[in-house]
Amino acid sequence: MQCAITVSPLTPTFGAEVLGLHPQTVSDSWPQLRDAFRTHRLLVLRDLPLDEMQFTLLAQRLGPLEGRYVMRRSDGKASSPVHLIQNLDADGRVAANPYGNANYFWHTDKQYHLQPSLATLLQAMQIPPTGGTTEFADMSAAYEALAPAVRERIRGLRAVYSYPHMLRTCLKREPTAEEIEKTPPVDHPLVRTHPETGRASLFVGMYCCAIVGMPPQESCALLAQLQAHATDRRFVYAHAWQPKDLLMWDNRCLLHRAVADFDMARYRRVMRRTVVQGEVPV
Ligand code: OGA
Ligand code: MN
Repeated sequence: MQCAITVSPLTPTFGAEVLGLHPQTVSDSWPQLRDAFRTHRLLVLRDLPLDEMQFTLLAQRLGPLEGRYVMRRSDGKASSPVHLIQNLDADGRVAANPYGNANYFWHTDKQYHLQPSLATLLQAMQIPPTGGTTEFADMSAAYEALAPAVRERIRGLRAVYSYPHMLRTCLKREPTAEEIEKTPPVDHPLVRTHPETGRASLFVGMYCCAIVGMPPQESCALLAQLQAHATDRRFVYAHAWQPKDLLMWDNRCLLHRAVADFDMARYRRVMRRTVVQGEVPV
């Protein structure tokens, strides 16, 4: 089937908009999409109304889907591999913050696992008339822009990533015994190397809580400095959602966060989501 697609960069360093896809041509376009994903790391697939099965198959082209979810839905149930994130409470009413607000802090998905996610796919099902923005930050460009002395200072360091740390610092609550048991802290390289491109990226974000072997004060200050640098506006792309947008992003080299920029008590924001399993970072 004819499958001419156009791929247009969204910023000088990352992100691209993809036009001309149809549910029936995704398969033929896959080699081109896979290449574009490696190059641009965030793809905005416009006007692609995939159903749940087509969405699942697209995600599975990147690898097996993540099945473990510590975070509960607003009705208390665990999420399935393909799920909805939405501002609805357990009774299906629009609500400001059914999940707490962890998504509003810079993060990369499942960084607190030994094998953090490779990619996340997010599809607009229902979006507010304006706002509901998602922001992305380029941790590769941020790494490359560091002063040589800083790069030297952080070379070879490992950091600790912890879900309970995120709960305490972002959601301001203590983790439950179950949450602690399910998420032992892990450590990863603070500068990770992309397995496909060999490019180095800072691996920071809301789960990153300490640098292994560094005194706590020094470690906190260094992480805060790196995080502020990585999320400087020059490394950020803010995505204004259009109906039928489908985003796929590389969690190995980008941070992301939701922006609380719409009236959540009034408008629904419903996204179909899935996460592709990643490898142990090196
Ligand atoms: C996610 C996420 C942000 C958003 O799906 O992992 O962080 O804007 N989403 O919904
Ligand atoms: Mn996320």
